[in-house]
Amino acid sequence: RWTIDLNTADWQAAPEAQAVCAALLNGDLVAVPTETVYGLTADATNGTACAKIFKAKGRPQFNPLISHVASLEAAREHGNFDGQALALAEAFWPGPLTLVVPKKETSPISDLATAGLQTVALRVPDGPVMRYLSERINRPLAAPSANRSGKISPTRAEDVIADLGPSLSFVIDAGPCPVGIESTIVGCIDGTTRLLRPGGLSREAIEKVLGAPLSGADARMAPDAPTAPGMLSSHYAPNASMILNASHASPDDGLLSFGPDPLPGAGQARAEINLSPSGDLTEAAANLFQAMRALDASGVKTIRVQFIPSFGLGEAINDRLRRAAAPRV
Ligand code: TXA
Ligand code: MG
Repeated sequence: RWTIDLNTADWQAAPEAQAVCAALLNGDLVAVPTETVYGLTADATNGTACAKIFKAKGRPQFNPLISHVASLEAAREHGNFDGQALALAEAFWPGPLTLVVPKKETSPISDLATAGLQTVALRVPDGPVMRYLSERINRPLAAPSANRSGKISPTRAEDVIADLGPSLSFVIDAGPCPVGIESTIVGCIDGTTRLLRPGGLSREAIEKVLGAPLSGADARMAPDAPTAPGMLSSHYAPNASMILNASHASPDDGLLSFGPDPLPGAGQARAEINLSPSGDLTEAAANLFQAMRALDASGVKTIRVQFIPSFGLGEAINDRLRRAAAPRV
């Protein structure tokens, strides 16, 4: 575990930085913080290293990985950006946006990382550690969220260690992730721009730059050819079962509340966490996964969730909650 303070510049000069780069070049797995969640990271050009990611996560190999790079310029070595993709990259990178674009034949990103697709998911994260490592080893870094497949994504180093510790050569601990929810994924393919996964960048912000509504997410996947995370019914699953838009709290259950107005019976809930007492959706997103973990750890069998509006980051919050509530496979 390498603990760093992002407010100081000297982490880049630490001997651990050198050791982490050597581990990545050697094809090992490293947990790296980003502004969204912690990533289970490997050299995206090394098929063997990418295979280790799938194995450590227990992730089906048809589900492709995001490749992280340091700049738009670096991203353009791997994918073809149309006008819309360029506009979005220029507006929001570095930041919580992943663009799925046609893959360049010359890109060295492993077919395992892209699950053999003709497209590639690229992101320039705002979290400086991932960007720095990619630049220093001069390779794209493949990184899914650093959790076992189907479980809650990690926003703290402790969560990563509890879930995946033995598979990792390093865990880089930069404290809690400020956005707290994964990147928004937008596909820019064949002239259409689609929302593939709501996330830490709101639909409204994206549509403002595009000057048009995003195409619906429904057409994103054929049931037999899933290419985005939405197709898996159960995802982000806590051990407890979830009741969404609960009408009241219960003394037997946990309560995930939101905003200043308590649900009837809230004071009697067995455990309660308010995602944002002031009703701020950005704050609620930052707290969501930690709150789900904490309520789960309190031992309740059921977590009731208060209504959360669906605009801004509320779209991504509700997406994660619906998946957490979905029937387990
Ligand atoms: O914020 C994030 O996006 C975090 C951090 C670590 O960057 N990463 C993350 O990765 O959430 P992951 O693997 O948990 O989710 C990425 C999703 C995958 O589920 C996959 O379905 C989708 O991106 N994806 C990757 N490549 C794709 C492609 N070529 N076409 C469509 N979807 C793709
Ligand atoms: Mg994930």
